[in-house]
Amino acid sequence: MVTKKIAVLFSGSGTNLENLFVKLHNKIFNGVKIEIVLTICNKENAGGIDKSLKYGVKPVILKHKEFASRDDFDKKLVEVIKNADVDLCVLAGFMRILTPHFTKNVKAINIHPSLLPLFKGADAIRQSYDANAKKAGASVHFVNEELDGGEVIAQKSFVREVNMNYEEYEANIHKIEYEILPKAVVELLVNNNFISR
Ligand code: GAR
Repeated sequence: MVTKKIAVLFSGSGTNLENLFVKLHNKIFNGVKIEIVLTICNKENAGGIDKSLKYGVKPVILKHKEFASRDDFDKKLVEVIKNADVDLCVLAGFMRILTPHFTKNVKAINIHPSLLPLFKGADAIRQSYDANAKKAGASVHFVNEELDGGEVIAQKSFVREVNMNYEEYEANIHKIEYEILPKAVVELLVNNNFISR
């Protein structure tokens, strides 16, 4: 059987990481098995570390603060990812801007909690909520050197109801993330959609 290997990078609570383990890890899609072989975290106390351990994958902790430059950090990142020989790298709440060294050497996608190109960067959920956006959602995009700027490959939205509080709004966005990120991985790795990019 063909096995497609993925790496998942995260910085925080790791709910998207866990969702990927639940929906994709060691599961077979159209005769193709997907395996999360590597997880990488840049924060030593991130909640996602325990989640990864729970599914039997010990995260590689690379503390960016211990590297002299962004380039040095990315060189190490690329080395670890290349050694794992993965088919795709998935950024699931990995809060780092990546250098051209990374983007030229690693095929990667990212989940972002807004309808890109709107509300790039950190705190996108808060940004869009405070801007009174009538529609909200999440996007999956290819990673390039521009923060949250690569080509969008999946997006889903909902219409914001009047009086929707922040917690409901945020929960709706996360629900969409948990749906579209694993789907995009399967599209890329199993159905060969977007493969030429
Ligand atoms: C997610 O909402 C993800 O979209 C966002 O960080 C959160 C991570 O949560 N990523 C970005 O904002 C990237 N610019 P999680 O650790 O619980 O998956």
